[in-house]
Amino acid sequence: MSDRVILKLGGSVITDKGADCRVNKTALSGIAAAIAGAAPAAQIIVVHGAGSCGHPEAHRFHLDKGAATGQTEGIYVTHRAVSALNDAVTGALRETGMPALGVHPLHVGVADKGRLVAFESRHLGQMLALGMVPVIHGDVVMDLSRGACIVSGDQIVRYLAVALKCTRVGLATDVPGVLDGGRVVPEITPETVRTLQIGNSSHTDVTGGMKGKIDELLGLAKSGIGADIFHVSRLGDFLTGNDHGGTKVRGE
Ligand code: IPE
Repeated sequence: MSDRVILKLGGSVITDKGADCRVNKTALSGIAAAIAGAAPAAQIIVVHGAGSCGHPEAHRFHLDKGAATGQTEGIYVTHRAVSALNDAVTGALRETGMPALGVHPLHVGVADKGRLVAFESRHLGQMLALGMVPVIHGDVVMDLSRGACIVSGDQIVRYLAVALKCTRVGLATDVPGVLDGGRVVPEITPETVRTLQIGNSSHTDVTGGMKGKIDELLGLAKSGIGADIFHVSRLGDFLTGNDHGGTKVRGE
């Protein structure tokens, strides 16, 4: 089988923070061109975050605390915001000629206490076999204990990388990698992570910022799949297997 890659686009690289749901179309078309140009041989699954299209809504409706009868408006509003972003990402990829197709976790995933316990992936395997590019996103999903919850794109990456036996995982972000004292940490393992001082992002983030990201990726590394975190401007380098100047998260 050819390389099977999951690429996560951080919400902050595809939306403008500060405003309510403003898609960064310039960044998106650059990203789409980089994917189209660099990886014709690989199977690619794109997962994107929410940025300003979902985080403010999830925060406003307290979805981190779940949802109760009569208080379900936030599920609709948050899903609608991140779905609009999904349309924009899928559209930008399609404009380059890629056969991209949006897939919504709310429809295919179920969580319990904030963690995915089921996520249909057989249809994604079929899409990849047909040469398509599934475009998935951090979303609100129904939660067996809490009514509803937010699952981050990073949690979805972890789940799907295992379910779809991905060979490479990349996270394109607005920072050059994981920073410790202003310098990029070249490699993180379950051993070395304890020695690091990792900051959180400054804008509204209901899913734990860089710390949440590393926790998911260390969990993935324990399953034997490493992941790379790099600046979005180095996307082409990651896809072509060149040095991207970022952070590699690896197992023991
Ligand atoms: C968040 O997904 C999903 C919602 C708030 C609906 P992520 O946590 O992956 O988003 P970013 O990348 O941090 O913006």
